[in-house]
Amino acid sequence: MKYRPFGKHPLNCSEIGFGAWAIGGAWGTQADNDSLAALHRALDLGCNFIDTAAGYGNGKSERLIAQVLKQRKAAGKQEQVFVATKTPPTAGDWPPSPRDTAEARYPESYLRENIAERLACLDTDKLDLLQLHTWTRAWNRNPAPFKILRKLQGEGLVGLIGVSTPEHDQNSVIDLMRGGWVDSVQVIYNLFEQEPAAELLDTAKECGVGIIVRVAYDEGSLTGKFNAHTKFPADDFRSRFFAGDRLARTIKRVEDIRTDLVGTGYSMPQAALKFVLAHPAVSVVIAGTRNPAQAEANCGVSDLPAMSPELAEKLQRHNWRRAFWYAGK
Ligand SMILES: NC(=O)c1ccc[n+]([C@@H]2O[C@H](COP(=O)([O-])OP(=O)(O)OC[C@H]3O[C@@H](n4cnc5c(N)ncnc54)[C@H](OP(=O)(O)O)[C@@H]3O)[C@@H](O)[C@H]2O)c1
Repeated sequence: MKYRPFGKHPLNCSEIGFGAWAIGGAWGTQADNDSLAALHRALDLGCNFIDTAAGYGNGKSERLIAQVLKQRKAAGKQEQVFVATKTPPTAGDWPPSPRDTAEARYPESYLRENIAERLACLDTDKLDLLQLHTWTRAWNRNPAPFKILRKLQGEGLVGLIGVSTPEHDQNSVIDLMRGGWVDSVQVIYNLFEQEPAAELLDTAKECGVGIIVRVAYDEGSLTGKFNAHTKFPADDFRSRFFAGDRLARTIKRVEDIRTDLVGTGYSMPQAALKFVLAHPAVSVVIAGTRNPAQAEANCGVSDLPAMSPELAEKLQRHNWRRAFWYAGK
């Protein structure tokens, strides 16, 4: 495993992090034993960065992580694992409506209560990194929630402070970086979604902001394993994400990528992660991982040779402006 700086912050994070959404729920059947074994395997292989959220099974993902860290401590492991979690806004539109106020969606009393819950679920007295789970540019001129988070940081409840981009307007967080409000940004950047290369990633580098890349596999499609017969169970959110003709359209584009990879030595999952890591602003790719085999495959990518600038440039042609899919078709 190779390690990278996390912006200007004193953390050397593993290139491959553990994306812990699926182990919390919403991805069909998931056995806790697989989740626990996956976490252990990733940490054994040098992964030191885990991303989770309140919303991943209402604290379940966080509790599984806490369980694994406790087991490892009890086993005498000397390791520092950095856990990033997220607080969502209060109930309402997701992403927030441009007319919502920050005071209504992230009020101080709510932030305090939610952060106390995160501390309890993670069984710790200080969060390594607390990210606001979504944002709107409507709040950029008065980013009140970050003023509250800085206060909580001063009280020792929170280490670093970050934001996760709203999918439909990822660039809305650029002003927050320039204003010095965030230590990290979590962003979608992959072979299809390359818009962050326009400005967001370079701004992060200039501002010393850590970049956490999510959805490097486009929720699985960029591993190249889906085909026309792939069906997602109703309790897997991908039954909506890839609804209607979306899966067929996606597979067609994935096959074009596969063609470009012939003779490169990379499998599809390897190329998907190496393409992301080819950008120097990226600190960590949090590959979503749900079993030990995936933990091994994902962590193993770090040690492969870096993607050549020529191949990374060739793959840029797969940029796909397809807009915002999470709400379904
Ligand atoms: N708004 C937000 O802040 C937000 C939104 C989304 C995600 N995230 C974070 O980002 C992380 C990563 O995103 P994601 O999990 O949504 O999507 P992803 O990383 O694009 O895809 C993950 C899925 O791909 C499959 N997979 C993983 N490794 C594989 C391998 N080596 N070979 C074949 N298949 C593999 C697994 O599902 P199957 O085996 O079932 O196919 C896995 O759940 C999340 O876990 C979460 O921590 C944050």
